[in-house]
Amino acid sequence: MRILSGIQPSGRLHLGNYFGAMKPQIELHHEHDCFYFVANYHALTSLTDGDAMREYSLEVAMAFLSLGLDPQKAILFRQSDVPEVTELAWILSCITPMGLLERCVSFKDKIERGLSPNHGLFAYPVLQAADILIYRPHGVPVGQDQKQHVEVTQDIQGKFNHRYGEVFVRPEPLIREEVAVVPGVDGQKMSKSYDNTIELFGKEKQVRKRIMSMVTDSTPVEDPKDPAKCNVFALLKLFADADERCQWEDRYRSGGMGYGEAKKRLFELFMEHLGPARQRYEQLTANPDEVEAILADGGRRARAVAQATMEDVRKACGIITART
Ligand code: ADP
Ligand code: TRP
Repeated sequence: MRILSGIQPSGRLHLGNYFGAMKPQIELHHEHDCFYFVANYHALTSLTDGDAMREYSLEVAMAFLSLGLDPQKAILFRQSDVPEVTELAWILSCITPMGLLERCVSFKDKIERGLSPNHGLFAYPVLQAADILIYRPHGVPVGQDQKQHVEVTQDIQGKFNHRYGEVFVRPEPLIREEVAVVPGVDGQKMSKSYDNTIELFGKEKQVRKRIMSMVTDSTPVEDPKDPAKCNVFALLKLFADADERCQWEDRYRSGGMGYGEAKKRLFELFMEHLGPARQRYEQLTANPDEVEAILADGGRRARAVAQATMEDVRKACGIITART
């Protein structure tokens, strides 16, 4: 099966990105034909600082590699190394009804949070549809918040094929229920935009501080507590094995346990689980040329696939260029 997904380099990566997107994506690459990319054109809709764009783009690529992605098995690349995607975005724009984009919650959300409604932000899902359709994947592993964007892609794919013939494959969102929405330190969805994240590659001291400051209710230590209502437990259960998860559930329910203890264990589990990746990340930081070479190679491989699709697209639409 062909799989594709992208991550925006719009800020520091966090546990929501890890459990909701990167971990499942990396697991899939052992069995499937995977394309993963740094969505830098998408990040331009919200990030206007060029240095930050460069830094975060490298971070996304280094995160994939240090978390275990083998660049021989999967294609890891930068969105901007395949310029055909912006050409396809324009072609798809011409069959995308305004109403489809006006209904997108992610656009409405960003406006409510004060981002200025530029055209890129509005057209974001069309570029995402181009990103997806150009590689003809069957599955798109993402967190819950991206489900609507994949559904918009399905709509656009249906319209295009209906008008021009069977050019694109219908992609399905692949969402893991248990990690669909990972909560942040305040209990809301963890997100760069809410300043409630625990960063994957943050300094150890900073990670500890973030975890120890997680918001909990004021149930006294001796009273029983409901693990289902606690965001510390929500993260703990993502790291712990089944036995340990049950033990913590019992400890919550029987009382006599303070939230501080659960937080301490969460910090330990974070370090145990992510320690090796954090070390590899440090090593890669010292070798940006190695990362650049991997991205350049991935870009060439991805572009060859995109170029073949674009020949079919142009032919179907009657767009003639001297290139083809
Ligand atoms: P953010 O909300 O921090 O800006 P992105 O939109 O860049 O994160 O998300 C990148 C990927 O990580 C997407 O597939 C998204 O669905 C997933 N993701 C982000 N936050 C979470 C979360 N809290 N829970 C589950 N998945 C998430
Ligand atoms: N919109 C996605 C996000 O914010 C990033 C993205 C861009 C993407 N293009 C994609 C995800 C294509 C999946 C497939 O997380």
